[in-house]
Amino acid sequence: MKSDKAKIIAVAGKGGTGKTVIASLILKFLAEYGAERALAIDADPASCLPSTLGVKVNKTIGDIREEIASPSQVFFSEDMPTDMLIEYKIDEITVNTPQFSVLAMGRSEGIGCYCLINDMLRHFIDTLSGRFTTIVIDCEAGLEHLSRRTTRDVDTMLVVSDPTKRGIDTALAIKNLAEKLHIHFQHIYLVLNKVTEDEVVKTALLDMVKDSGLTLIGTVPEDENIRAYDLIGTPIIELPDDSKAVVAVKAIFEKIIGKNHESSPY
Ligand SMILES: Nc1ncnc2c1ncn2[C@@H]1O[C@H](COP(=O)(O)OP(=O)(O)OP(=O)(O)O)[C@@H](O)[C@H]1O
Ligand SMILES: [Mg+2]
Repeated sequence: MKSDKAKIIAVAGKGGTGKTVIASLILKFLAEYGAERALAIDADPASCLPSTLGVKVNKTIGDIREEIASPSQVFFSEDMPTDMLIEYKIDEITVNTPQFSVLAMGRSEGIGCYCLINDMLRHFIDTLSGRFTTIVIDCEAGLEHLSRRTTRDVDTMLVVSDPTKRGIDTALAIKNLAEKLHIHFQHIYLVLNKVTEDEVVKTALLDMVKDSGLTLIGTVPEDENIRAYDLIGTPIIELPDDSKAVVAVKAIFEKIIGKNHESSPY
């Protein structure tokens, strides 16, 4: 698919709910459905997404920020515009595989404001998104990314929750904050992850979702393969196609692309 601007899919939610697992599987399906260029952005300073995608990232945007801020940085011409410098540097640290590209945000360890990294990331998304058909952002836990407005102009925001009342409440808080900050999402959906087969529990959860007013795009079952893969560090994108969570995320993915694209997505 040729498009001027990449579709942005952001995955947010409370810590440990499964954001990285779901973002990884979405990238797997993007590749399988033939998205020409998909970019994965790991916006979580703890950086797990590259490893669940089976990719090694050596440098993060946080590292670049350090380099640009460092007075010892003499590699670039003084009159190179900062925008160009940032673009050059981001290109340098982006890991490209045949399926997708991966970029990690990392953390700024030194002086300066973490917001600068967000500014750089936003700049990157704004100016270079034409190179990619889809950008998937694995957000950090909680509401931080929203309050810093990293994920504005998102086409689809998936808010992942564990199968608990508290998780659903947090998901609702994320949606409400997004609206309060006037962050533009075309679609914002709840994903209930790690759902057990128990029908009574499922019914109770669906009732809670209905009461919350959130739109549920799908549920993802508790999948022992994910635990097993994570235990020994096997990339999540290598899960077999018939693994329970993979089947469920595929259905969610198809709903997302069905909403974002009128006909054949790629
Ligand atoms: N559907 C599932 N079935 C079984 N285990 C799962 C499932 N989804 C996620 N997990 C497990 O839950 C844990 C958290 O998953 P993950 O790292 O994707 O969450 P996260 O929201 O990205 O966490 P963090 O907030 O720390 O970034 C992992 O140990 C993972 O193996
Ligand atoms: Mg994560």
